[in-house]
This record gives sequence, structure tokens and C-alpha cells, in this order.
Amino acid sequence: MNRKYRKTIIAGNWKMNKTPAETKAFIDELKGKLGKQRWCDVVLCVPFVDIPAAVRAARDAKVAIAAQNMHWEKSGAFTGEVSAEMLKELGVKFVVIGHSERRQYFAETNETVNLKVKAALENGLRPIICVGESLEEREADITAELITTQVKIALRDIEADQMRKIVFAYEPIWAIGTGKTATAEQAGEICGLIRSVIRAKYGARVARSVTIQYGGSMNPKNAEELLAQLDVDGGLIGGASLKVDDFISIINASNQ
Ligand code: 13P
Repeated sequence: MNRKYRKTIIAGNWKMNKTPAETKAFIDELKGKLGKQRWCDVVLCVPFVDIPAAVRAARDAKVAIAAQNMHWEKSGAFTGEVSAEMLKELGVKFVVIGHSERRQYFAETNETVNLKVKAALENGLRPIICVGESLEEREADITAELITTQVKIALRDIEADQMRKIVFAYEPIWAIGTGKTATAEQAGEICGLIRSVIRAKYGARVARSVTIQYGGSMNPKNAEELLAQLDVDGGLIGGASLKVDDFISIINASNQ
């Protein structure tokens, strides 16, 4: 973390978990336990149908609500899809774009990620852009090229003055839901690489202002060490964000 230049953001990505009633119960409990921490911003990325309940429950707390996906078009014949404008109207502030599960199971590409990033920004939503390599790609020693390409294409046609709205999340696929975390050094190295790609395109001032999270089996035990890395400005947390106490512990780790 480097709080002098950028916000630390701790975001829970619930994936396909929790009903609207469970969402309300979670946020009510979270509010009671959150304390007056203000070193980090707290975000919850919830399923579409949970958004109204989440926004309502989080209204009097400093917790922003995010969607986990969106379509890039404004409207039209796209059965099952949701637009940025629809999310915005519900009070959504952030949207996860290009999560590896969406790339893997729903055929998202770097190009569709770029279209979604642009549509999110046009509608005042802050994209959390996910990038990361598979185990095969890491073993083939192509991690750096792959991440560089993912970041460059995601940022195609994005102006420097929009960059402060963007958050990146480095999520090595081999660390997601596996209990296998990247070492703090590995996380720091790739988050640093992402920042260097941003620096090459937009300059040092812009690069140092962008929040770059780590995601992949982050939990109350390893969070502090990961967040101690200068270029790791927060977490995108799956499994450990489903339990209030674990999520709070990670938030507290960012307050050290
Ligand atoms: P886990 O924390 O469950 O490994 O999930 C990470 C993730 O994919 C967050 O987006």
C-alpha cells in the first residue's frame, strides 16, 4: 500500500452466493462490526438481484456496492444482460470487469473487457479490471507478456483523466478458490508490473494514483503480508468475504 498517493480498497466478491435476504443480514451485521476504520474503502460486489437490498442496507454505512459484470451496449436485444445505466440507477458505484471466471466460462476477451471498461466509465461507474495468468501460463514463463497485453488492451482509448476512476485487480487464476496464495513477493511483482504498464502509457503521476488490488485466496492470515507490498493497494476477496468476521479481519489488516 502507499496511502499517500492512492486509496486502499478492500472489496468482497461474493460471486454466485447469497440471496437478497442474506445480503441484508450480512450488511446489517457488517455495519455493527465495522468500527470507524477509514484507512480503506470497503466495497461489496454482489449478484445483480441482491443490488437493491445491498444498496438499501449499506445506505448509512461507508460501504459501496458493486456489480460483478455488465454489458457494454446501452440497451437492446441481449437476453439476460444488464447495462451500465441500469446499474447506475440502482446506486451501484463499481463494476468488476473481466473476472477470470467470466473469461473462462463466458468467453470474455480482452476486447470485450475494453468495451465494458469504456461503457462503465461513460456511465460513471468505476471499473475493477481483473487480470491474471493460469498455472500453465506461469509455468511457461509468459506471465509478464500476458498481463501486459491484458492491461494494454483493457486501457485502449482510455484517456489519462479517466484513470483515477479505474481499479485493477491482479488475480492469478491458480490462486483463486484453491487456498494457494501468491507469495507477497509474487503479488507485489505483478502489481508493480501493472503499474509500470500504466506508467509507460500515462506517466508516473497517473500511475502512482491507481489502486491495484490482489485477489486469490486472500484471507485474515495472509492479508497483512500481502498488503504490506508497496504496489498492493487492497484486495478482491472471494471466499473470505462471505463471512463477516473474516471480511472484517481483512479490512482491519489494511488499517495496520
Ligand atoms: P478467492 O478469494 O475465493 O480465492 O476468490 C478470489 C476471487 O476470484 C475474487 O474475485
